[in-house]
Amino acid sequence: MSVEIRVCPPDRFPELLRTAEVAFSEDVPDDMIERVQRVSDPARFVCAMDRDRFVATGGVFGVRLSVPGGDLPAGGVTWVTVVPSHRRRGILRGMMRLMVDDCHARSEPLAMLWASEGSIYQRFGYGMATVCVNLEAETASARYARDWPVEGSCRLLRTGEGLDLITPVYEAVRTQRAGFLSRTPDWWVGQLPRPEKDDKGGEARRLVIYETDQGVEAYAVYKTKADWGVRGANCTITVDEAFGSTPRGTREIWRYLLGVDLMRTLKIWRLPTDHPLLLLIAEPRRLGLTMGDGLWLRIVDVKMALEGRTYGTAGNGNGRVTLDLRDDYCPWNAGRWTLEVADGRGRVAPAKGDADLALDANDLGSLFLGGFTATALARAGRIVELRAGGLAAANALFPTADQPWCPQEF
Ligand SMILES: CC(C)(COP(=O)(O)OP(=O)(O)OC[C@H]1O[C@@H](n2cnc3c(N)ncnc32)[C@H](O)[C@@H]1OP(=O)(O)O)[C@@H](O)C(=O)NCCC(=O)NCCS
Repeated sequence: MSVEIRVCPPDRFPELLRTAEVAFSEDVPDDMIERVQRVSDPARFVCAMDRDRFVATGGVFGVRLSVPGGDLPAGGVTWVTVVPSHRRRGILRGMMRLMVDDCHARSEPLAMLWASEGSIYQRFGYGMATVCVNLEAETASARYARDWPVEGSCRLLRTGEGLDLITPVYEAVRTQRAGFLSRTPDWWVGQLPRPEKDDKGGEARRLVIYETDQGVEAYAVYKTKADWGVRGANCTITVDEAFGSTPRGTREIWRYLLGVDLMRTLKIWRLPTDHPLLLLIAEPRRLGLTMGDGLWLRIVDVKMALEGRTYGTAGNGNGRVTLDLRDDYCPWNAGRWTLEVADGRGRVAPAKGDADLALDANDLGSLFLGGFTATALARAGRIVELRAGGLAAANALFPTADQPWCPQEF
């Protein structure tokens, strides 16, 4: 078999995207191909070709990821597929090499992805960086725990309206939490309600905003699916995303979503474990909570990444920890690094002395956004404490007040 792994020929980009249908065993609607093209740089898509045919695909979206105290350039790895006839022959391995090296060459300190199966990517140094709470709630029993007053009002917008109103809400939430992707106007096209049902018969999506005399404080994008039986309506509301830039906004947008008439079930995926909804509701068990892995993060450049976030909300913003990092896949990261933190900002240099902690690249990916503490990783046998006090030093630096939250699959 002669297979060439290479960057996608630019004139064949739509064809590359279509190849994914075979591997994912589902149709890709035409409007999705169009939306992906809007936010893609074909030069960052790779493929494997067997003679003239695509047999594998992969790509990187160049975005910024919010991290504690700011944001960093990040390569969002996406569209990874190998057709069944060509699997388990090292094609993914070859494409991943091209994509991670591309991130490195572009000085993106982070690569990240959503995994169809978490076990695939750990060998390339990705670590689970966020955990998702998924909901399948019984709306009839989703009462609030207290008698919070209803304030402000909700307004449904027409197709095409509202980008100027909801972008500031998203940006405000993005600066409050690590794990959010930056969105250009072209990215927003993918989030806003489509003019009509997509050509594969999906339900139209709605955009609702919540506003007070102080302006727009929340919005949600959702769709509803009708289902009538002998006992009446059994309809489902599926929420793509719902954000409030204030506690009041979050509370009221969720009051709206849980109160849409005729809906029996509300579904949403990818909430953080500390989402306010879990504390607003009187009977959280009725939310039908399950948990899963969220964003997987790969530290591509350890110095740039560690110097690109702030530290110490759990301590006093000062401290030092030396990491002995194993990283065979990106050997430029491997070795002992000292992170010296003063007033919340970190400086990273090759270590002069012994290390406090030993860890793998994927463990650093799990630590980086604050989703897991060093102690949690040590309890799982991932991080090893080499010097007494090493875990405590890391615990005073890395954790964040809020759990990281990546609400968007890509
Ligand atoms: C997952 C997929 C891309 C793997 O491609 P592939 O070319 O067969 O993978 P490779 O041969 O390069 O395998 C690289 C390594 O990953 C391992 N691997 C591959 N698929 C795996 C899977 N589904 N689960 C666990 N490990 C897997 C291989 O065993 C190999 O390990 P090794 O190097 O230690 O021997 C391919 O099976 C596929 O397209 N699956 C369906 C679509 C999908 O799930 N895409 C991922 C979207 S996030």
